[in-house]
Amino acid sequence: MRLQGKTAVITGGANGIGAVAAALFGKHGAQVAIVDFNEEAGEVTAEQLRTEGVDVAFFKADVADINNVKEMAEKVIVRFGKVDILINNAGITKDAMMLKMDIMDFKRVIDVNLTGVFNCTQAFLPAMLAQGKGKIINTSSIAGTGGNVGQTNYAASKAGVIGMTRTWAKEFGRRGINVNAVAPGFIETEMIGTIPEKVLGQLQLMTPYPRFGKPEDIANAYLFLASDESDFVNGTVLEVDGGMLK
Ligand code: NAI
Repeated sequence: MRLQGKTAVITGGANGIGAVAAALFGKHGAQVAIVDFNEEAGEVTAEQLRTEGVDVAFFKADVADINNVKEMAEKVIVRFGKVDILINNAGITKDAMMLKMDIMDFKRVIDVNLTGVFNCTQAFLPAMLAQGKGKIINTSSIAGTGGNVGQTNYAASKAGVIGMTRTWAKEFGRRGINVNAVAPGFIETEMIGTIPEKVLGQLQLMTPYPRFGKPEDIANAYLFLASDESDFVNGTVLEVDGGMLK
């Protein structure tokens, strides 16, 4: 019960890593707000957690849309009365080699993965500042720390997330708010479902640890950074990638 009495907001919590994190946080005593633009999956995930005894609610929002996010944040505060933890986990890919990348695909990935993190943080920060304590965890990627072929937009967004993380750690650290990032390696979710078999084999060879990552590996990193155990950890990027060679 490492999050007893805490309220956690998890964006992109309907599927993949976010859904596994929502379940883990619930197991550790947190009240959970699942935020996602996929309403159907979000409601299913929330219902599942409810049957497991978690105090959970689903909120529909596109993190890229500032008005959506403001409305959602107000509803979350009304429902739970406070926010202690924000996991900025929602993210998308729209891969293409640089010369073939459509500018709209570049912009959409930046809007969701980078501006979405800005929007949600700005919406929940006042509540955290008012209580003088809070944990913000942003999801970056090995593409953000090391770049990746075919991911100009994604790598730019995830590198930007690191810049914001370090900036906010400096801006809000003295006010009791920790801001950290997790940089996952290749994790078995829908997101890597489109990667060809041959490329997956190459990725495996580049990973010293003898398996791919699981959503649980990232959820456990979120849990540490969300708990009081990490109170003196601020502005860091926790790489959870099996030691992948960059
Ligand atoms: P996923 O595709 O399984 O889940 C992402 C969730 O975010 C979905 O429920 C989706 O509906 C939601 N979402 C997407 N755009 C949204 C928007 N505009 N507003 C609200 N919700 C939105 O992805 P996965 O693998 O669970 O990824 C979670 C995070 O981890 C992402 O930020 C991703 O970039 C990052 N990551 C994942 C890696 C992997 O190998 N799976 C590797 C490195 C980073």
